[in-house]
Amino acid sequence: MQRREFLTKSSLVLGSSLLPLPALLQAGSTQNAAEIQLKAGDWTSLRKQFVLSYDYIHLATFLLASHPKPVADAIARHRHAFDVNPSDYWHEHFMTIDADIAAAAARYMGGKAENIALTDSTTMGLALVYSGLQLRPGDEILQTVHDHYSTDLSLQLRAERTGAKVRQVALYDNPAQVSVDQVVSRLKAAISAATRVVAVTWVHSSTGVKLPVHAIAAMLADVNQQRNEADHILFCVDGVHGFGIEDIDVSTIGCDFFIAGTHKWIFGPRGTGVVWGSDRGWSRCKAVIPSFSRSYDVWLGGSTQDQVPMGEHMTPGGFHSFEHRWALPEAFELHLQLGKANVQQRIHQLNTLTKQGLQQIKGVTLHTPMAAELSSGLVCFDYKTMAPDDVVKAMHGKGIIMSSTPYRQSYARFAPSLINNEQEIEQTLAALRTV
Ligand SMILES: Cc1ncc(COP(=O)(O)O)c(C=O)c1O
Repeated sequence: MQRREFLTKSSLVLGSSLLPLPALLQAGSTQNAAEIQLKAGDWTSLRKQFVLSYDYIHLATFLLASHPKPVADAIARHRHAFDVNPSDYWHEHFMTIDADIAAAAARYMGGKAENIALTDSTTMGLALVYSGLQLRPGDEILQTVHDHYSTDLSLQLRAERTGAKVRQVALYDNPAQVSVDQVVSRLKAAISAATRVVAVTWVHSSTGVKLPVHAIAAMLADVNQQRNEADHILFCVDGVHGFGIEDIDVSTIGCDFFIAGTHKWIFGPRGTGVVWGSDRGWSRCKAVIPSFSRSYDVWLGGSTQDQVPMGEHMTPGGFHSFEHRWALPEAFELHLQLGKANVQQRIHQLNTLTKQGLQQIKGVTLHTPMAAELSSGLVCFDYKTMAPDDVVKAMHGKGIIMSSTPYRQSYARFAPSLINNEQEIEQTLAALRTV
């Protein structure tokens, strides 16, 4: 069958032209979610949802999630169905499943599902947005010196390809002493008449500082009020290290793009991520990778581009590791069962306990602010005169898995998450005292 014929007929007749798939192969996720009903804030039961080896204390799971049982089960179910009959399984679901996944994401993160694109990682989302933003000659992108490699390089590559101007600003010198006023006033002072995009990272994986994104958005809204609409500044946020921790609706921040991987704090399948864009943001961004969504039908001549939701159009096409992408709703559902406010409270509680403990250890220099307003789930520190990698190595020898920050100025990093408990934090602090 020609693809055009398929696309135009599939949603109407596919079901009747093929044998129905056995129940085992249905993509629906409700059965699985209902089987595992976690009580809000039940952290002990949550720990049991992972096959993580608890011979170790895991303080670096934010790098890459271990799949909790509902996610692992959904992946296994989809994988099996693809292995049994890949063509039918894909045809059965591809017309609707991305929209269902975006709807699950919207239930968790807020905003309209149609404004959410599905990606494979934070890096892919950043690259799509920073490559696709429409700029005129002389327009400038303002980023910060605190951003991750993936923002820096997406912008650098954009500049190399198109000659776009990119400038960096330091929002603070000493992370432990950062304040909301300092961040907002330094950023404001760095904006020039040519600035059209401000690119920031919500929680810095370099220092643990959480930027006051609402205050930044309010400042940018004031700046935009003084400008013609065509010169408005878009506000783009790499949100990955606040996503799955902070209890917010991303569509109310006041940003234009919120970009995050879902394989870190959210516990989603490895190789998944989302981009939420405001209507204004998407209207100034062009797709970089053709999507396999209804945009294919636009190419075939069956419909027009305005009939395709922007999120769908911006979702990179081609075949993916679908068993992973299609299991993403289970991760959002798990977080909603736990309760977003409970998750935020718990991670901040464990992080505060960690910082208070570190402050009492002789030889520790804490670089992450104490205030919950300016920090989240990452704690960066130095210990005596040891290199951060040596601290990590020494702790690993004691069965404790930490990380060091992969930046030019590196620190040791301790990231208490939902799978940790108070006892593990105390054990880790005690072990550190003996390094
Ligand atoms: C702030 C920040 N942004 C982006 C990334 C890259 O994330 P991903 O692996 O989802 O591309 C990282 C990596 O941990 C990060 O720390």
